[in-house]
Amino acid sequence: MAKPRVFLSRELPPAVMAALRERCQLTANPESRVLAKAELIAATTGMDGLLCLLTDTIDAEVLDIQPRLKVVSNYAVGFNNVDIVAATERDIPVTNTPGVLTETTADFAFALLMAVARRVVEGDRYARAGKYKEWAPLLMIGADIHEKTLGLVGAGRIGLAMARRARGFSMRVLYADVHPVPTDQATELGLERVSLEELLAQADFVSIHAPYMPETHHLIGAPQFAQMKDTAFLINSARGPLVDEAALVEALRTGRIAGAGLDVYEHEPALAPGLAELDNVVLAPHAASASLETRTRMGILAVDNLMAVLEGKRATHTVNPEVYPRLGL
Ligand code: GLV
Ligand code: GLV
Repeated sequence: MAKPRVFLSRELPPAVMAALRERCQLTANPESRVLAKAELIAATTGMDGLLCLLTDTIDAEVLDIQPRLKVVSNYAVGFNNVDIVAATERDIPVTNTPGVLTETTADFAFALLMAVARRVVEGDRYARAGKYKEWAPLLMIGADIHEKTLGLVGAGRIGLAMARRARGFSMRVLYADVHPVPTDQATELGLERVSLEELLAQADFVSIHAPYMPETHHLIGAPQFAQMKDTAFLINSARGPLVDEAALVEALRTGRIAGAGLDVYEHEPALAPGLAELDNVVLAPHAASASLETRTRMGILAVDNLMAVLEGKRATHTVNPEVYPRLGL
């Protein structure tokens, strides 16, 4: 049987490339840049499957190429870059990569939390600039992390992994989520479920671990900053548009909150005007899952998801599994 034809929109780690070359007839974007939509459509036309990234917008226009794609495998846990309704209408399974990046993402979210509270990046800039002339009692004064209160906005896999890290720092952990954490896990991690309002009022660190969808657009904006302590920090390693970034710049500039650690941006890769000029924010380039191990695991999972459907089986992680019965799977 001929191997299925697959288009990969951007080079992945070597082990993933090897797996793809072995399992399918691979065409890969040869350039290290995001493809424009017209280029993506041209390259994907005639393919059985598409392995794409969170930087690719997969909308009805892409999904309408002929012959129709059999599967879209998204190399990310988040899938807000894919029009799931349009894919479902066309009976195209869309898969994602949950689970494998949980710990790595939580490591990074905690790193952002620590970096902004203890002014690690600012201190690095200061030392490199030759400004460190003498030890001083008030030099680079930051905030403690241990025994503070962490507020998790969203307590899914990554939120819970963040809670496990917080336990090691003797933190109190609150969470706000529409879904309660199972009692045994909540007890084990010492989690307290509160409303978002209560969380914002009490937390020293507010860390976002929620999916982005129309309902969570600007979940944190000016009214929420107004409810936070002026000593509190915001950490976002989820998706940029969960936060009203202009309001965040204002809150940081005016001291309404103490600081922020960000891995994602509302209009990524652009930063809101004024953000990069602020010292009380640590900025990362959407790199929370960027360890070689995890990016490889994500790739292998994305390939397994893709190949499962191309081989006539259900993938392990499908965002719209309701299409399977219609495909006889
Ligand atoms: C990264 O942002 C992901 O969703 O995997
Ligand atoms: C998503 O929430 C994940 O943990 O992979």
